[in-house]
Amino acid sequence: FSDFLTDTFHRQHDYLRISVTERCNLRCLYCMPEEGIELSPSHKLLTTPEIVLLSSLFVSQGVTKIRLTGGEPTVRRDIVPLMQQIGALRPHGLRELCLTTNGLSLHRKLEPMVEAGLTGVNLSLDTLDPWQFQIMTRRNGFAAVQKSIDRIFELNRAGAGIKFKINCVVMRGMNDREIVPFVEMTRDRDVEVRFIEYMPFDGNKWSQGKMFSYEEMLGLIREKYPDLHKVQDHKNETSKTYQIPGFAGRIGFITSMTHNFCGSCNRLRITSDGNLKVCLFGNDEVSLRDIIRKINNGEPIETEVFEAMKQIAMDESKHLPLSERPPMLAPNSPELLDIIG
Ligand code: GTP
Ligand code: 5AD
Ligand code: SF4
Repeated sequence: FSDFLTDTFHRQHDYLRISVTERCNLRCLYCMPEEGIELSPSHKLLTTPEIVLLSSLFVSQGVTKIRLTGGEPTVRRDIVPLMQQIGALRPHGLRELCLTTNGLSLHRKLEPMVEAGLTGVNLSLDTLDPWQFQIMTRRNGFAAVQKSIDRIFELNRAGAGIKFKINCVVMRGMNDREIVPFVEMTRDRDVEVRFIEYMPFDGNKWSQGKMFSYEEMLGLIREKYPDLHKVQDHKNETSKTYQIPGFAGRIGFITSMTHNFCGSCNRLRITSDGNLKVCLFGNDEVSLRDIIRKINNGEPIETEVFEAMKQIAMDESKHLPLSERPPMLAPNSPELLDIIG
C-alpha cells in the first residue's frame, strides 16, 4: 500500500464511497420529506465515464474498496454497466465492490451485478412488517425487498459469496419492538443485522426521546439472549459487532449518536456532483468534477486529482470530532445525501 492516502493518524484511506444519484424510490421518515428533495441539474452530476475515471485514479493510489451509494443507487439507469466498468478495475487492485441499497429493485439487477464483481450488499430495512414498512418508507414495496433478500441468500447458497448486511435504523415507538425479531434473523442465516442510532437531520423530526441508544438495545437483546457477546471488529469498522453463540449471523451497532467512531473511519467520499470529502461532518471539499472537466493544457489531469486527494485525505483536521460537529444537516446537503446512501 502506498503512503499516499495515509493520514497523520495512520488511517489508510483505502475505502471510497461514491454517491451515484441523489434520487430515491422510497421516502423514509427519518431521511426524506414526502415531496422528495430538490435535485441538482444533471450537468452538475458526474457522468458514468467520469465516475469510472475517478474510480480508476483512486484505485491506482491504493483504494481497494468502492461502495456505491445514493440516494438509491439502483435508480441510476446505467448502474449495471457502471458496475461492470468499475468491476474491471479488479486486476488493478480493487478487491471489494459494494452497494448500499434499499433493495426495492435490486432483485432485478442482482445477477448481472454479481457477474460485474459485486462483493457486498448493505440493504436498508427497518421493519419486518409490511404495514409498518409502508408507514416508515411512505411507499409500498415490502414484498419486492423480501424478494431481493431471498435472491441474495439463494445466490450465496450457489456460492456467490456476497457479504450481506442489513441496516436497521431504530426509532422509539416505531420499530423498537422489532429489535429481537431482527436479531432472530441471524439464527440460521449468514447475515449481519446492524442497528443504527437515529440521527437528526434538518426536517426529520428527530428528538432525543425517539432515539434508541446502543446501550438500551444491548440491554433489550440481553434480556432474551444473555449470551450475546462482542466479537472482534475488523480494522476500520465503524460498527460494533456482536454474536449469539450458535447463531449463523452477527449483529452490529452503528452508534452515530452515542459513541464516536471517527478514529477507525477510513472512508473517502465523492458526492454525486463530484466533490471529494473525507468526513461526513467535515466541511472541506474539493470539486473533482471541475478538475476533470477543465481543459487540460498539457498537464496530465491525474496530477491535479492526486493533489486534491492529498489535500483532503491527508489532513486529519478535516475530520470533525463528534463533539464539534454541526447538530443538523440541511435538506439536500451533500452531507445528508452521503449519509442516506
Ligand atoms: P461497510 O463498513 O462497508 O459495511 O459500510 P458502511 O457501514 O460504511 O456503509 P453503509 O452505507 O451501510 O452505512 C451505514 C451507516 O453508517 C449509515 O447509516 C450512516 O449512518 C453510518 N455512517 C457511515 N459513515 C459514517 C460516518 O462517517 N460518520 C457517521 N457518523 N456515520 C456514518
Ligand atoms: N439516522 C440514522 N440512519 C439513517 N439512514 C438514513 N437516514 C438516517 C438517520 N436519520 C441510514 C439508512 C441507510 C444508511 C446508509 O443510512 O437507513 O441504511
Ligand atoms: Fe431512500 Fe435510503 Fe433515504 Fe430511505 S433512507 S428515503 S431508502 S435514501
